Amino acid sequence: MCGIVGAASANDSIPFLLAGLATLEYRGYDSAGLALLPNEGVNGLQRARSKGRVAELASKVAQAGMSGNVGIAHTRWATHGVPAEHNAHPHISGGLAVVHNGIIENYEALREKLQGFGYVFTSDTDTETIAHLIQACFKGHIGEPAENLLSAVQCAVAHLKGAFALAVISEEEPECLVVAREGSPLMLGIADDGHYAASDASALLSVTKRMMYLENGDIARLTPESISLIDRLGQPTQRNVITSSLNANAVELGDYSHYMQKEIFEQPQALSNTLEMISGAGQLQAGIFGAEAADIFAQIDSVLIIACGTSSYAGMTAKYWIEQVAGITCNVEIASEYRYRQSVPNPNQLVVVISQSGETADTLAALHHAKALGHHHTLAICNVPESAIVRETVLRFITRAGPEIGVASTKAFTTQLSVLFLLTLLLAKANQRLDASTEKAYLDELRHLPIAVGKVLALEPSIKAWAGYFADKQHALFLGRGRHYPIALEGALKLKEISYIHAEAYPAGELKHGPLALVDSEMPVVVVAPNDETLEKLKANMQEVSARGGVLYVFADSGSTVTSSENVHVLQMPDPTGFKDGGFKTDDFKSTVFKSTDLKNNGLLSPVLHVVALQLLAYHVALVKGTDVDKPRNLAKSVTVE
Ligand code: AGP
Repeated sequence: MCGIVGAASANDSIPFLLAGLATLEYRGYDSAGLALLPNEGVNGLQRARSKGRVAELASKVAQAGMSGNVGIAHTRWATHGVPAEHNAHPHISGGLAVVHNGIIENYEALREKLQGFGYVFTSDTDTETIAHLIQACFKGHIGEPAENLLSAVQCAVAHLKGAFALAVISEEEPECLVVAREGSPLMLGIADDGHYAASDASALLSVTKRMMYLENGDIARLTPESISLIDRLGQPTQRNVITSSLNANAVELGDYSHYMQKEIFEQPQALSNTLEMISGAGQLQAGIFGAEAADIFAQIDSVLIIACGTSSYAGMTAKYWIEQVAGITCNVEIASEYRYRQSVPNPNQLVVVISQSGETADTLAALHHAKALGHHHTLAICNVPESAIVRETVLRFITRAGPEIGVASTKAFTTQLSVLFLLTLLLAKANQRLDASTEKAYLDELRHLPIAVGKVLALEPSIKAWAGYFADKQHALFLGRGRHYPIALEGALKLKEISYIHAEAYPAGELKHGPLALVDSEMPVVVVAPNDETLEKLKANMQEVSARGGVLYVFADSGSTVTSSENVHVLQMPDPTGFKDGGFKTDDFKSTVFKSTDLKNNGLLSPVLHVVALQLLAYHVALVKGTDVDKPRNLAKSVTVE
């Protein structure tokens, strides 16, 4: 992970570097640091580093009165070495400083070699190897002495294995910044007062919207006046300059206590925005996934979904929908497993990559792997329009959840589900499994979803009242069946991530095959209990828990006839038929036309409703425990290392 920024500016680069780091903190927040080249009257490379958040670095920088036109900065998510000041970037070798995002796989061998040349290491990181390696290229310890910083970086990069984005400055060339990219994202910003670099477009927005995405193998030398760019063969090259459509406005917290809470409550709007293009439609057009979608959907014989974490649970939910409604085989692969296992490629398969950030290293690499295996029907479902994953697929659907700041994904997940349901319907149409009236009924249910989610949000006070029961527990079990099993997985993940309570999810039928041994009065068991075809089986599973003294917390649809008792706590999910005249006015959710439906239960879209209740439960348990809800320990929002 980690976030990097760099500047070669005609003005002081500190405001940009600190603002950029604050924007990139979602990539890691263990420690932060920056280095600057001397302005006139100041001698030598200046560096400031601190354990903890960017705000702590900013006060150090202010106290030291640092300034400089050329600089680099970094916010860290620890991989090699504990979060500590001595491991924070930039790492220095002589008068040269480096920040790095990614992992150098051969750093141990390089470190040994460099120690042989007399280089002394002061950190446990792989990055310090890069700093000494570039210096060794400069000094001629490796190859001929490099003529300048660009060729020293070029020489060093040739010895690195792994994924990286680098930014390097040196006292030898105080007017320039050199950056390189292999595997990890890096883009340049072109502004009136100079040139900038960052691992994410959002970090450039404080100075410019004009950007250039670097390709793997690219190395660039930036000065305030110029950009010189070479490709992996060392040939001068150019990349397109685009104008970013991203919005520079910081996301305000408003009346909410945390971004996660805000984002949970934004879900009706996020769904409404994402589904805007179907607001008045009686029929779906494949073109909403891209110009070639109709042709591709007609050709494919199966679906392969690849994702990580919460996004993979969206994929698992969609598997139930796609196989049931479209009658097409659908498999879901965890990206980090898929990319390394020997799978059987099928060029007639639709490969769907799901990612909130669009930068998740494993998902991106898995997409590359699928393409290398001959998969050419590729589709991205993503919340970030200019992200790496979106730029590499044939088809795409951008969810319109808006920026998700909380590390725990909420509105990104439910909007992904809504898009996966649209995909299900289109695949069903292509497979001639959907008649016009059923299609219209499903579209009505989708249009109804924002209001239905709003009704679940209204349960917050009751869910909050449950939170205290969980806060002193070490473990929790989550149970679901069918399309609600992935929702149980997501509920357990949410609780783990932000409350640090160990939580596991099982398909309820699996309980008796092992996990039942764990059940006692100290192990709360959360049950997702929709009023669907699996309800009676689920009730039997609940009995198994009760008979062992377990305490059940059941989210039950109305009509489920699950009754409360001493050790069975039941929270009634909103009545779907009641949504028709519900307390939410259509005006609350921009542009979508909400129509009454004749739902008997929450139907195929019920997972979207149940997960909202579980998000609220995790949030309120974390609140009682007093954890850092938006930035939980050890995690980062965008996982750009494998
Ligand atoms: C979600 O709460 C997690 N923080 C995490 O599992 C996340 O979903 C995963 O890292 C995948 O991220 P992506 O959707 O950006 O690819």
